[in-house]
Amino acid sequence: MCGIVGYIGFREAFPILINGLKRLEYRGYDSAGCALLHDGHLNVYKAKGKVSDLEHVAETKDIKGTLGIAHTRWATHGVPSEVNAHPHVSMSGQLALVHNGIIENYAILRQRLMEKGVKFYSETDTEILVKLIEYIKDKRHCDLPSAVRMALHQAIGAYAIALIDVNEPNELLVARKSSPLAIGIGEDNREFFIASDASPIAEYTKQVIYLNDEEIAVIRRDEPLKVITILNHEVEPNVQTIDIDLGMLSKGGFPHFMLKEIFDQPEVLRDCMRGRLLPDKVVLSAVENYKDRLLSARRFIIVSCGTSWHAGLIGKQLIETFCEIPVEVEYASEFRYRRSTVDERDVVIAISQSGETADTLAAIEKAKSKGAFIFGIVNAVGSSIARATDTGVYIHVGPEIGVASTKAFTGQVLVLSMLAIALAKAKNCIAQEDYLTLIGELGCIPDKINKVLEQNDRIRELARIFTYAHNFLYLGRGYNYPVALEGALKLKEISYIHAEGYPAAEMKHGPIALIDSEMPVVFVATHHKLHKKIISNMMEVKSRGGRIIAIVTEGDEDMKKIADEVIEVPETENCLVPLLSVIPLQLLAYHVAVAKGLNVDQPRNLAKSVTVE
Ligand code: F6R
Repeated sequence: MCGIVGYIGFREAFPILINGLKRLEYRGYDSAGCALLHDGHLNVYKAKGKVSDLEHVAETKDIKGTLGIAHTRWATHGVPSEVNAHPHVSMSGQLALVHNGIIENYAILRQRLMEKGVKFYSETDTEILVKLIEYIKDKRHCDLPSAVRMALHQAIGAYAIALIDVNEPNELLVARKSSPLAIGIGEDNREFFIASDASPIAEYTKQVIYLNDEEIAVIRRDEPLKVITILNHEVEPNVQTIDIDLGMLSKGGFPHFMLKEIFDQPEVLRDCMRGRLLPDKVVLSAVENYKDRLLSARRFIIVSCGTSWHAGLIGKQLIETFCEIPVEVEYASEFRYRRSTVDERDVVIAISQSGETADTLAAIEKAKSKGAFIFGIVNAVGSSIARATDTGVYIHVGPEIGVASTKAFTGQVLVLSMLAIALAKAKNCIAQEDYLTLIGELGCIPDKINKVLEQNDRIRELARIFTYAHNFLYLGRGYNYPVALEGALKLKEISYIHAEGYPAAEMKHGPIALIDSEMPVVFVATHHKLHKKIISNMMEVKSRGGRIIAIVTEGDEDMKKIADEVIEVPETENCLVPLLSVIPLQLLAYHVAVAKGLNVDQPRNLAKSVTVE
């Protein structure tokens, strides 16, 4: 959701900005723009559409300059258009600014400035910032950093901003609050790179600073970076060394990032297990270090959104089954505003791929303020959520670029499985034999996923048959119920086909009314103690003419007799089945969307990192 890139140094900025914007395309956007400072002129170019459209616009223009900022915008206030695209410029045309986040009190600030004669041209909340900064700078005769501080004091909401000034050709200013911003430091401070995450920076430098909330960085060529708070206290920048595999940022021969990421799963899950899943034990340092705090909790509350919420539903079953600790699973967006009984006796588990989801971050802040202990399950290293937690486990599945989450889901479920097993052992409520069986089975999961992936061609054929459908129903029980929800979400996100997930037995309480010959029903029906009951649900669909696609355990002859189409997954422990049964559903959604000719990696209206409410 919106991406910022910036550069100050000795190289031409434009190619670095465009390359960086392309790296951030996965976040979702609908317009792009850049501003370059060259020979005392500010050149601003914008385009509705893709970064390639921006390149096209700039083709015949002056794109010189060693200082520049750029942006991809995901529309919140105002339609996607050239005029609403960033950068926005000040009244005098001397300042240019890009912004991620939302300024909630923009209307009142705008009204006040209009009364002073300031003119506005866009519908955005961002334009207010650049105009307010210039207004303060002129009125108070202060320098740019002071004007930025004063303006940000007045702004309520979330922001990551980057700002350049024609009169300061050696300076780039950035600031953040609740919206991520990373600064890459080149050799001897000769150049600096800024971006919404480290992926556009990684190919130039490994030395990175993640700004904290309400911090402003004053970045000057050939000078050490200066970081101040909006209260004007200087802070020591915390430089980290990042380790991003650049191969993970490219499609590696696959037609789409989503397909690559589905196929990455065996490998990245091995990475996630490395050093944690040993032949005879599960070692999670967060559990070792905070064992007493975790085991003394009266309950766990899982907060997350979307796919991460589905992983949370599986986590609830795992933790309640193996650790006998009550678990609630909440949508972060609901939890943050509801009156809740959360207090210091609770442990809150926040699950997030991006680590930047605004609702999840706000849910954490609320739980923290009530004294709860916060445990994070996050993918993006150094992200806002990772930093807001007391402890946690990274899922380490590498950057996820496709907007529809795939490998992050299995990474989250894997970490939740290891967490449940490690906690159960620490609590002494799992038999040694069961403990070892689960460890052994977890170790086999990557190979078993490979076996499911071998059916890719068949699933592609199957998908073609079903592209005609306008509605899909996904049904599952127990551990497969969240998988059904996830399968339905994947399909609707990228194929725009309406799909609903339900617990299989709930079908008779309503959804059965929808079933006819036009309605494909996907049963996630691996071996389970309620196997016979699922067969009855299938018969109910069959007798109403519904078409059945069943995800079954290898060799399940009963299901094969009933279902129209069958996809087999290898046998595993019931609690680990989601790690296998979700794979065909990811592939099915992918191939349906491809068959419909849709933009799989950047589906309409969706953003990868949802940093606004
Ligand atoms: C679905 C999807 C979204 C995210 C949700 C939470 O494919 O990607 O539903 O799961 O926006 O995002 P994170 O996990 O980054 O907090």
